[in-house]
Amino acid sequence: MNNSRRNFLSTGAAAALAPYAFSTHTEQTIRVGVIGCGGRGTGAIRNSLAASPMVRIVALGDVFEERAQSTAAKLVNESRSTVTPETTFSGFDAFKKVLSTDVDMVILATPPHFRPQHFAAAVRAGKHVFMEKPVAVDAPGVRVVIEAAAQAKDKNLSVVSGTQRRHQQPYLEAMSQLRDGRIGDVRSASCWWNQGFLWRVDRTATMTDTEWQMRNWLYFTWLSGDHIVEQHIHNIDICNWALGGPPKSATGMGGREVRTGPEWGNIFDHFSIDFEYENDVRVTSWCRQIDGCTGKVAEEIVGTKGVLRTDGGRAIITGESPWRTKGGRNPYEQEHVDLIDSITQTGPYLNEGRRIAESTMTAIMGRDSAYSGKRLQWEEALNADVRLGPTDYAFGPLPVRPASVPGS
Ligand SMILES: NC(=O)c1ccc[n+]([C@@H]2O[C@H](COP(=O)([O-])OP(=O)(O)OC[C@H]3O[C@@H](n4cnc5c(N)ncnc54)[C@H](O)[C@@H]3O)[C@@H](O)[C@H]2O)c1
Repeated sequence: MNNSRRNFLSTGAAAALAPYAFSTHTEQTIRVGVIGCGGRGTGAIRNSLAASPMVRIVALGDVFEERAQSTAAKLVNESRSTVTPETTFSGFDAFKKVLSTDVDMVILATPPHFRPQHFAAAVRAGKHVFMEKPVAVDAPGVRVVIEAAAQAKDKNLSVVSGTQRRHQQPYLEAMSQLRDGRIGDVRSASCWWNQGFLWRVDRTATMTDTEWQMRNWLYFTWLSGDHIVEQHIHNIDICNWALGGPPKSATGMGGREVRTGPEWGNIFDHFSIDFEYENDVRVTSWCRQIDGCTGKVAEEIVGTKGVLRTDGGRAIITGESPWRTKGGRNPYEQEHVDLIDSITQTGPYLNEGRRIAESTMTAIMGRDSAYSGKRLQWEEALNADVRLGPTDYAFGPLPVRPASVPGS
């Protein structure tokens, strides 16, 4: 066996896959482990199984035992699951236990705080990776992901991130139209994720600080990165895609207008950011999680000859040369199809680690500009040393940092 990426059996996957002798295509298997068995982790299991008959789910890990157990229970009648009590793990070190099994690929779907640690460990262990966005909550975490993505490339490991729009037909076609000049030169853009409140779990008498925060991870910056990072990254990523890379600077504002009580942690409920890209192109980004307001989840790219509007399933160009498209395969499945094609060398090699790290960093730079009230430059934001959250994880006391107040 040579050491090329085509030969994915020749790396860490060899021992696991050897019994399945690659005599025909359908006998190939890709053994998948899942770290983070919540909504998206279980969703990604379904998407991965639907993407390819080669997929086998073999190991599960979640910090909370009941989450891992309930996902295992859902797989009991799944013929392509070989999950057993021995391959169902819990605790803060569950990720290490999943990685120590013979999985070929892992799905990383915990809250984003843990992604840099889990991604770096997965690459060290020689595993292909599907990782949910965002991939960090602070600049040190982003740098870990960039470094690990480079190591993944050296090891011929495939990496796909859950920004499904990058695998969605209308977006792919729209970017191709944009590159072909249908809207002329890009002059500015806007993007939005404006919606109401999301879920929240009430604190019970037995919950420690850590458990309460982890069960409500959306509302703590150290865990989610705030909603500009956790959710609005999807739209920011589209702007980075259209503009060919991340911005040079960010000037942001935002605050806690409605979600002011301690039950809402320390994140903001609205942000607006002015991002400056190369060639004086500006992108205005808006995100809000406040009930009773107008909702909008979309992107708009303004060129010298037309305007491209995208909003999930549709892409429309107006102006000198109108164009529109919609449809395509479920992008949550398509991203797994593309990853598996990359792993099996039936499609192009994919390593999305660096670009999802850059889009994560773009959102973090916007957030930190709004938190501080200061204009931030890309290099200083990326090289910042502020790490959020504890370094040793345990259930117990964990004081909440007060929400940021711009200018103070
Ligand atoms: N691409 C998308 O459209 C999309 C949609 C929803 C969520 N997401 C992303 O997916 C990720 C998970 O979100 P979710 O909605 O599934 O949240 P969730 O709360 O439903 O699930 C997260 C799971 O991770 C577990 N967990 C927490 N810390 C852990 C650790 N250290 N080790 C192991 N397990 C741990 C939790 O117990 C929970 O079961 C987030 O990054 C989120 O931004 C992406």
